[in-house]
Amino acid sequence: MNSKDLQAYHKHVTDVYDERSSKHDNSQWHRATALKLINDMPPKSGDVVLDIGTGTGTIAYRAASLVGPNGRVVGIDLSTGMLNQAKARLAESGFDNLEFVLADAEQVSFPDNRFDRMYCASAFFCILDPLSTLRRWHRFLKPDGILGFHAQPETSYFWVREARKVFKRHGYPYLINDATATIEKSEKLLKDAGYRAVDIRVEESGFYKSAEDARNSWIQAGSFFPGQYPHPVTNVPPDVLAQCKQEYEENIEALITEKGIWNDISMYYIYARK
Ligand SMILES: C[S@@+](CC[C@H](N)C(=O)[O-])C[C@H]1O[C@@H](n2cnc3c(N)ncnc32)[C@H](O)[C@@H]1O
Repeated sequence: MNSKDLQAYHKHVTDVYDERSSKHDNSQWHRATALKLINDMPPKSGDVVLDIGTGTGTIAYRAASLVGPNGRVVGIDLSTGMLNQAKARLAESGFDNLEFVLADAEQVSFPDNRFDRMYCASAFFCILDPLSTLRRWHRFLKPDGILGFHAQPETSYFWVREARKVFKRHGYPYLINDATATIEKSEKLLKDAGYRAVDIRVEESGFYKSAEDARNSWIQAGSFFPGQYPHPVTNVPPDVLAQCKQEYEENIEALITEKGIWNDISMYYIYARK
């Protein structure tokens, strides 16, 4: 991808998350899943930790309390709005082992072998080039260090799953969560990126969405589309796009029950060791 496209994609990401930043901490789901990611594989006292896509700093603050005064924590994010929310709590927290830095997780640079633990909660789906980014992150880990991150399988989010099926059928890429579509694919991705031990834990969950939401769920050009640029519908000819939309609507209609449509939001908790 050329640098102009990368800039355009990042502007899209930052616009969306700047806008969400003041409300992000209202999401108990994000907080709980982020804390579970670190609590299930916590750093030790004195460890050096990187929190990638830190948002308002849920993992970074937890890590700062676990590593203590002899440890160090860095939280990075692309969104100034998110980082401002994270930094707002810094003075009153009393932590002087924690800093927040504006940086792109796909291009950031740190010395090799710097971190004992790296975490990335609910942000990996935004990464455009999963393999080369995981290789980059691998360099920053100390030998035996662990990267823990969330990823979504191909079953997650009915509107993504059903759209991917129809776009793929017509030969157009629909890349969100494609790199981590299954456990086998995720394991291969991490092995190809150089990690030596991969532990994937599946956390199953979901809820019903209304039939009305389901019927209005077709993703339009211009809407936020993480992990792919340009937006997947951009290069699809209008007649093919109309056909995709019709097939999508048929799939959705077939899935609607009297309770609505089941929205699977199962997640992988992936821990990979250098
Ligand atoms: C859904 S939020 C999750 C925030 C936090 N990790 C949590 O669990 O509460 C996703 C975050 O990833 C950040 N992000 C997305 N792509 C990024 C990138 N390439 N580099 C750095 N941060 C990124 C967004 O700005 C946003 O703050």
